[in-house]
This record gives sequence, C-alpha cells and structure tokens, in this order.
Amino acid sequence: MNLALILGILAVLVLHAECRSYDRHLVLKDGIFNLYYSYNATNKMFYFKVVAKTTGWVALAMTHEKGAEGMKNYDIILGGVKGVNTNETYIGDYWSTTTAIPSYDNKQNVALKNAMEMDGNTTLEFSRLADTGDTSQDIKIEKGKAVYFAWARGDKDAVSNKIFQQHGNKASMGRGHTTVGYDMYTGKEITTQTTTAKPPTTTGTAIVPSIAVLIITALVTLSP
Ligand SMILES: *[C@@H]1O[C@H](CO)[C@@H](O)[C@H](O)[C@H]1NC(C)=O
Ligand SMILES: *[C@@H]1O[C@H](CO)[C@@H](O)[C@H](O)[C@H]1NC(C)=O
Ligand SMILES: *[C@@H]1O[C@H](CO)[C@@H](O)[C@H](O)[C@H]1NC(C)=O
Repeated sequence: MNLALILGILAVLVLHAECRSYDRHLVLKDGIFNLYYSYNATNKMFYFKVVAKTTGWVALAMTHEKGAEGMKNYDIILGGVKGVNTNETYIGDYWSTTTAIPSYDNKQNVALKNAMEMDGNTTLEFSRLADTGDTSQDIKIEKGKAVYFAWARGDKDAVSNKIFQQHGNKASMGRGHTTVGYDMYTGKEITTQTTTAKPPTTTGTAIVPSIAVLIITALVTLSP
C-alpha cells in the first residue's frame, strides 16, 4: 500500500468519525427546518441535529403540552453561528411559559457538539440528557410520553444569551409546531388519548366529536 492510499483511508475514517448519523428524522417544515435525533441508552443522552434555512438564530422546542400552542412550557434550545467571517458559535437552554421572550435557564443543560453556517443554512448539533434533573426549566423525555416539537428561526443572530430578535410569524414560516406528539424513544407518533370520551352509543353521535376535532384542527392550522 502506498502512502497516498493510507492517507486517503485515514481521511475517510476521520470524516466518518466526525459525522454522527441519526436514527430519527422529522421534517418540521419542508425546505425550512429539519430535525434529526438519536438516543443513547448507555449514557441516557439525546443527540440532536437541526438544519434550518437561516443565517440568524435557530431554535428547537420540546413540550408535553398537547398541541404545543402559545409557547406554554416549552423547553427551548436556541443557538447559531455568528457569520461565516468568524464562525463564532453560541447555544443556550431556555424555558418559556408564554409567547414572551423565553427565559435563559438558571441551569444550562445543553452541550453544543458542532455548528455550521453554509449556503444560507445553519446546522446545530447538540446533546442533552433525557432527564436533566432540572424539573422547573426542562422537560423530562420519558418512554411513552408524548413530546411535541416546535421550531423557530430568527433573521439575525442573537446579540447575547438574553437578547435576540423575535422570530417571524407562521405565515412567513418564522415558526411552527407539530400538532402530534412523539414517543422520542421509538420515534412513533402517540395517538391522542380518548380516555375521557364515552364510547358512542350510536354511529350518528360518533360523527359529532370528529367534526369538532376537525374544526379545532383547522383553527390551530389557521392561527397566525
Ligand atoms: C437547508 O435547510 C433546509 C431545511 O432543513 C433543507 O431542506 C435544505 O436541503 C438545506 N440546504 C442545504 C444546501 O443543505
Ligand atoms: C453511547 O454512549 C456510550 C457511553 O458514553 C459510548 O461508549 C457508546 O459508544 C455510545 N454509543 C453510540 C452508538 O454512540
Ligand atoms: C466558516 O465556516 C464555513 C463553513 O464551514 C467555511 O466555509 C468558512 O471558511 C469558515 N470561515 C472561517 C473564517 O473559518
């Protein structure tokens, strides 16, 4: 074997080691926001990769709140790359209870692994424990418990941990969320529990709740 070949093989091995692959992939918004993640059962750590169409800040939120409306109890990771001239990276762990600017967690439970800005896209790779122990400002990611995802992107980078511009509205694709929840361990959707609903006595009455669900779904989709 010649030296060039050996160096070539080494380069491939190094590149492979630096490129983490992810078990799950969710298109949160086609052409705008992709989410990839994996779980490592040994160290009980979730590894995430987000690819978002922006050169500003990027945020991923997870919540147990059904329907993920109003930024209520959102566990948010927000970060970015401050321009290709410096490639200075930043990331923060946040919590929100309302649509106001999220608060920077007292305990930071996110580790940035890699961040990159290229072709108008920002890619962030980070990890956090399934259970960070921060019961007031993080969600616990549990088996069988639905997690709803939300995403947002800013046009500009954050100025500091506590100062960053608001995302654009839903119409401009500045933000969005999933209306279905996921079991993050299996990657499967958790279908809505109907434990409170009484079983229909006739087929006629069964149509009424489904129309209500449709109307609610339509309202949620239309809300700005
Ligand atoms: C930029 O990000 C979007 C959203 O994740 C993705 O659809 C697109 O393929 C990315 N473009 C490049 C060049 O990676
Ligand atoms: C999971 O974490 C353990 C402990 O840090 C590590 O040894 C192992 O290689 C990891 N597994 C994967 C698939 O990354
Ligand atoms: C910043 O990162 C981009 C993408 O990896 C690269 O093309 C560029 O040369 C980097 N800039 C500096 C100053 O390192």
